[in-house]
Amino acid sequence: MSKNAKNDLYHVCSFCKRNIKITSQYDLPIYDPQTGFAICKDCIKEIYQLIVDNEAENEKKVRAKFIDNLDMVLDKNRPHIIKKYLDEYIINQDHAKKILSVAVYNHYKRMKCMDKNDNVEIEKSNVIMMGPSGCGKTAMLSHLAKMLDIPFAVTDASSLTEAGFVGADVEVAVRNLYYAANKNVEKTEHGIIYLDEFDKIARKSGENNSITADPGHEGVQQALLKMLEGSTVEFTARGQRKHPEAPTTKINTTNILFIVGGAFVGIEKLIEKRLKKNDSLIGFGAQIKGKEKKTSYDDLIKKVTPEDLMKFGIIPEIIGRLPIICTLETLDENALLRILTEPKNAPVKQYEKLMAVDNVQLEFTREALKAVAQKAIARKTGARSLKGILEESMLDIMYELPKSQEHRKVTVTADCIEKKAKPKVEIIEEPEQIEEKNNFAG
Ligand SMILES: Nc1ncnc2c1ncn2[C@@H]1O[C@H](COP(=O)(O)OP(=O)(O)O)[C@@H](O)[C@H]1O
Ligand SMILES: [Mg+2]
Repeated sequence: MSKNAKNDLYHVCSFCKRNIKITSQYDLPIYDPQTGFAICKDCIKEIYQLIVDNEAENEKKVRAKFIDNLDMVLDKNRPHIIKKYLDEYIINQDHAKKILSVAVYNHYKRMKCMDKNDNVEIEKSNVIMMGPSGCGKTAMLSHLAKMLDIPFAVTDASSLTEAGFVGADVEVAVRNLYYAANKNVEKTEHGIIYLDEFDKIARKSGENNSITADPGHEGVQQALLKMLEGSTVEFTARGQRKHPEAPTTKINTTNILFIVGGAFVGIEKLIEKRLKKNDSLIGFGAQIKGKEKKTSYDDLIKKVTPEDLMKFGIIPEIIGRLPIICTLETLDENALLRILTEPKNAPVKQYEKLMAVDNVQLEFTREALKAVAQKAIARKTGARSLKGILEESMLDIMYELPKSQEHRKVTVTADCIEKKAKPKVEIIEEPEQIEEKNNFAG
């Protein structure tokens, strides 16, 4: 630093070479006394602006590329292709797979059409999925998330609370999508959000329509409604607390596709009640009285209407924003059997692979698998308990067999599943061992 005649402090900016009068430390934000290197605040502002402009320019380019690639993306995501991919992992549920494949494909098409200015606006078709516990709702959506070319994020709605309550605000769903889009705003605004366990935010008082307030859940629904209708959602970075100065990201949700899903436990009773009431209104009730047949859950759920959802405790405005109702079926024994062995990541395949590391060839008899499926049905949690039941029977095997590295074959029978019997272990002789023996004998 130098001083002039008036005894003012001066320094030269290493960039613009101007003399900078120093009246406070902010006049020369960057200054290294050892080397004399300095940058004045005007230069810093200029550099900052350059960076901002450059980023905006890049964002534009990314958008252009995104739209350019849309034809290719559309080609890769035709409904039958999406369904074929889901078929590799999910057994049955063909109707739900079709609905989802079409919904996703239409979402892409909508993006393509939006670029044309012909006044025909294609409305979003958000989806609501309903089906019993363990029938594959969450599994289907998480597999879908892996194959898509647009960001897709799954958020557990039961963890959401109204702003100001303990828990996560509804903005978290959008923030999850933003991170799934690698923090690209443009991509986030065209992504898909899946709200799992959506039934958990139903008004508690829904079923009997009592006036007892349930502000927590009602508030979450109101906040979600704003997102569904299309609004600007503002959130802070992950792990950052909300405070006035915290930098925020703004996302417009108008073009985000929403899929919600849940088991909606008890809604079948509401449907049955409504159907019976209608029947007795038209006089059918009297005719079938006496030989009343119990209608199955699957038959009832297929007849669900927006009115039933309202009775269940979902506010009508939200139901109005979810035009596509998709119901999933209960998995029977045959479906559970297939789930054990057929999907790409089937539990039996996983155990076979694990045991192969210890030189063990693992085999489940058909009867054993049937016993597993039957046990799962008794537990009434769909495919959810399959893995647990298998794990119970596999624990001893996975503990005992790594003691040796001999080549063995292990057969799990129905008795192992039903009566905790020990599986059969046979030692398999390697070809060279057999040869040795033969040589010895000869
Ligand atoms: N239809 C199905 N096909 C293949 N696996 C399934 C199916 N349904 C459930 N599963 C398996 O069962 C487990 C629980 O299923 P999940 O999708 O969480 O059920 P929910 O419908 O309650 O969300 C998952 O590990 C999933 O892989
Ligand atoms: Mg689930």
